[in-house]
Amino acid sequence: MFRENPIYNMCIDSCRNGNMTLSNMIELGAKWMKKSKLHHHFFKDRSFFTIAQSLALHAIGLEHATDDNPELLTRKISENEAKKMLGLFEKRIVHRLPVEYLTNQAYYLGNKFYVNENVLVPRSIMNTRFEDFLNEIEWENYRVLDLCTGSGCIGISLALLHPKIQVDLVDISTGALEVAQININRHGLNDRVKCIESDLFANVHNQYDLIITNPPYVSTREYNMSPEEFKREPKIALESGKDGLDIIHQILAQAKNYLNPQGKLIAEIGFTAAQRVKKKYRKVPFKWYKYRRPSGHESFFGMHGVFECPAKGLPE
Ligand SMILES: C[S@@+](CC[C@H](N)C(=O)[O-])C[C@H]1O[C@@H](n2cnc3c(N)ncnc32)[C@H](O)[C@@H]1O
Repeated sequence: MFRENPIYNMCIDSCRNGNMTLSNMIELGAKWMKKSKLHHHFFKDRSFFTIAQSLALHAIGLEHATDDNPELLTRKISENEAKKMLGLFEKRIVHRLPVEYLTNQAYYLGNKFYVNENVLVPRSIMNTRFEDFLNEIEWENYRVLDLCTGSGCIGISLALLHPKIQVDLVDISTGALEVAQININRHGLNDRVKCIESDLFANVHNQYDLIITNPPYVSTREYNMSPEEFKREPKIALESGKDGLDIIHQILAQAKNYLNPQGKLIAEIGFTAAQRVKKKYRKVPFKWYKYRRPSGHESFFGMHGVFECPAKGLPE
């Protein structure tokens, strides 16, 4: 589609004549993204320049931002390199693919993860609260289950924070677990982190001190109304029945059987689902967490529902 745009041919001609720099290519990509009203896909703080920059650098086998190397911006771009960059811009703009699927990488809690279309792009806000959840823990022989693990970003980040814990990663999707296994290998965690393919607890045979989960919690209606970027992610990672609670109900009903008596369940279930869960499970002693901005301030704005519940308080 881009090929039919006169600017595409002008750009290729300029490259042939040695007149196009990396900076020109990034600006072109950013301008097109702005014009096509791309959805930010949760990462509102990321400018179109940053996205175009990631894609342009990826096309030439580089990764890091140009801030530490401003001279890189003046690097001349060849015709082939430009075609690769324009191909990536097109996939982001026309096909609405999240940038992480195009570069096959995402950062979570400062750790780098391999990602592809089989997993949700890591963005769970639970990491802003890891310290609150985990400060009282005796880490020796501590067992964690990251249920609905996707890329493994949550369980692996916990294992990286705490060198003594054992973590099991569960997902129903074979494709997601292949990604999680790549991330376990890349972080050198094969001795402490294991994958289990399972429909929730069906193939789980251990007791845990902590079950942590960011399950699918979007209602069918919300899913249908969501921007295209979200529809490029696996539906099974997002949608969970008419009111978004199908999976959450099952987790709440079964988690107690897989927790030690002193253990706890921590889950991110989104703001809307949280309102429904609060009404439905009035007797369950949930402790709700607000989203904490990087500045340290708590905020209800854009808040997701994250709760903690002791094993003893969970339904039988
Ligand atoms: C919202 S994504 C979360 C992924 C990851 N934990 C994260 O925070 O980026 C939910 C994950 O749950 C998995 N899932 C959906 N239904 C499941 C089920 N019945 N049993 C196990 N995993 C399931 C999906 O495959 C998807 O990877």
